Amino acid sequence: MSDFATNQDLDAARLRRAFGVFPTGVVAVAAEVDGELIGLAASSFTGVSLDPPLVSISIANTSKTWPDLRRAAHLGVTVLAEHQAIVCRQLAGPVANRFDDIAIKASDDGAVTLDDGVAHFDCTIYREVEAGDHFIVLLELHGVEHPESGNPLVFHRSGFPKLAELV
Ligand SMILES: Cc1cc2nc3c(=O)[nH]c(=O)nc-3n(C[C@H](O)[C@H](O)[C@H](O)COP(=O)(O)O)c2cc1C
Repeated sequence: MSDFATNQDLDAARLRRAFGVFPTGVVAVAAEVDGELIGLAASSFTGVSLDPPLVSISIANTSKTWPDLRRAAHLGVTVLAEHQAIVCRQLAGPVANRFDDIAIKASDDGAVTLDDGVAHFDCTIYREVEAGDHFIVLLELHGVEHPESGNPLVFHRSGFPKLAELV
């Protein structure tokens, strides 16, 4: 039995609020392409497969950054730490300032990771799947590093609540 009202208008604002009920972390997806640092913040990160090692992110097909980012030989993914809410907003803001005052490392293959963060992944694009107004991008992992402690940034209902306690 369902309590859903019929003929619901699933408009974007309503869906965004509903999706926002589900708490996530946030990653920075970044690379050096033609000598420029490019990247964006994404809360759509999910671990997908162990063999082969795959993760996914969903990227809006309106993204101005993705067409350049996808040209990188390797992409860096950094799981943001709890003190990086401002960094997260910056990585979603004006392109020219996204990496201002952020300490990064770039690999020889162009993968860019943030020095802070609770996990770092070195990736290549495995597959891109059209999914409505987004692409689901499957990324194959080539390297993983994560310290044994440190809390992640949490994104929930458009805000960044603190986790009370994690180990
Ligand atoms: C917390 C947070 C999570 C986000 N998650 C995503 C995401 O999963 N996918 C996406 O395409 N954009 C996401 N964005 C928006 C991008 O970071 C960026 O603002 C957007 O891609 C527009 O910039 P662009 O045109 O340079 O790509 C998120 C922004 C914030 C603040």
